[in-house]
Amino acid sequence: MRYEELKTPSYIVSEKALRKNLEILKDVEVRSGAKILLAQKAFSMFRVYPLIAEYLTGTTASGIYEARLAHEEMNGRENHVFEPAYKDDEMEDIFNICDHVYFNSMSQFNRHLPSIRNHEDVKIALRINPEFSTQEGHEIYDPCSPSSRLGIRLKDMPEILPKEVSGLHFHTLCEQGFEPLKATFDVVEKKFGKYFKDIRFINLGGGHHITKPDYDVDGLVELIKYIKKTYDLDVYLEPGEAIALDAGYLITEVMDIVDTGDVPTLILDASAACHMPDVLEMPYLPLLIDSDANGIKVRLASRTCLAGDVIGEYGLKTMPKIGDRLTFGDMAIYSMVKNNTFNGMPLPDIVLEKEDGDYELVRRFGYSDFKERLS
Ligand SMILES: Cc1ncc(COP(=O)(O)O)c(C=O)c1O
Repeated sequence: MRYEELKTPSYIVSEKALRKNLEILKDVEVRSGAKILLAQKAFSMFRVYPLIAEYLTGTTASGIYEARLAHEEMNGRENHVFEPAYKDDEMEDIFNICDHVYFNSMSQFNRHLPSIRNHEDVKIALRINPEFSTQEGHEIYDPCSPSSRLGIRLKDMPEILPKEVSGLHFHTLCEQGFEPLKATFDVVEKKFGKYFKDIRFINLGGGHHITKPDYDVDGLVELIKYIKKTYDLDVYLEPGEAIALDAGYLITEVMDIVDTGDVPTLILDASAACHMPDVLEMPYLPLLIDSDANGIKVRLASRTCLAGDVIGEYGLKTMPKIGDRLTFGDMAIYSMVKNNTFNGMPLPDIVLEKEDGDYELVRRFGYSDFKERLS
């Protein structure tokens, strides 16, 4: 397909941009010896899993369906899973399709000990909470916030690790550079270092913005080499965002222009609530391609009936007409994995912009995708 033939709204993922990110991550793997996993919660476009599998060690899942997706689509790469709590009736499936299973508490570990013992080939890790926050502002994304339920605090760790445990895991960052990781690892080493001699691997979680141009990749490589050399551990990283950062767009059409008394409000066929929920949850102002902060002021909003379904206020170079297209940037991550059909809104198409310039319509959704989740 040609770009002009695409319908709106559509998520368009660029194969070229994705490969560029994957090459940076592969370089980290090669130079440091780290093993990098795709955190599927950020990006689960399984059409490109074979491409990702060419570069990365595997995936991590936050739920059984993500684990199953990786099992089916990632060409047999490593399949890790962490859930704050596992249902008893999921455990058999989890152990059959995953090679690394992470537990969030000693009580969860003990509850599932029979399954753990039945699957000695599966590696077991505990998630720890270093109680060291490096984030300001986004408390909902801070697993080290004071009342966090995520990870075992030092005071709740056993004196000696159970023999079934061969790994430790922490995830504390969100869209951060290398320095907060280094500071966090220093704390982990001080507090939990006594366990390192009894484990085989450590997972440094996600939230590393490795593919951002200003990320200190050399610093990261040195830290990983230090951990491997000092403690003889396999080191995993499980970024989500970094894999598909700046690798996708959401194209939308202007459907109406409403005079709301202040700035003109453009009603779009894309919705913050349905198609980019992080815009409201985080909240943040998504990048609008070709906008101009000093240009004509407009408010971009959605065609849902939710009064607050407003994407934000922007400056534009020229005033769009009804039927014109607008393009939001960085829309591969935390977009299609979180979308929904609230208000009976259709889901955007999923499109792959191939390296040869062609656009492949990967998936078009319809009424049945709305109806089949209801009864
Ligand atoms: C346990 C865990 N690992 C990895 C990630 C991926 O983080 P990011 O997409 O910010 O790299 C998350 C995100 O919330 C997470 O909770």
